[in-house]
Amino acid sequence: MPAKATEDPNMPIGELAKRSGLAASALRFYEQQGLLGSLRNAAGRRHYRRSDLRRVAFIRAAQTVGLSLEQIKAALASLPDGRTPTPADWERLSRSWRPLLDQKIQALTQLRDQLSACIGCGCLSLKKCALYNPNDGAAQYGSGARYLLGDKASAVMAEQAKPD
Ligand code: FES
Repeated sequence: MPAKATEDPNMPIGELAKRSGLAASALRFYEQQGLLGSLRNAAGRRHYRRSDLRRVAFIRAAQTVGLSLEQIKAALASLPDGRTPTPADWERLSRSWRPLLDQKIQALTQLRDQLSACIGCGCLSLKKCALYNPNDGAAQYGSGARYLLGDKASAVMAEQAKPD
């Protein structure tokens, strides 16, 4: 009986790209951003652990939810030894993102409602246009759509991502 071939625990970037459905350039970008690590074989080529498939799925799911790469990186860094998220990790982290989603939904709903007053107007007045919102409480975080940029939401998420 022939010896059973052992499965290589690692895979080249092409296989990870094929199995994850992402372009190799996207995987290299994740690696540059510190979201994904790779090993190098004797020839210096990138190889990934099989568990990185799950890590890539985690990153994609978190991006779909609307998290920034920095927020995803922080979530991954909260895991012991930089391990790939387990189902329990995913359950805990995804639950911690709910307030962030609620804030984004609230901000977008408010934006939609304010935009309704602007449709057909075009004044963009600092005094009367609600989209300029001079009494914006988020102004303390800086200019622009601060909640959408993740300022306050990031703080909430980081607090809730802490292990019990
Ligand atoms: S553009 Fe006139 S109220 Fe916003």
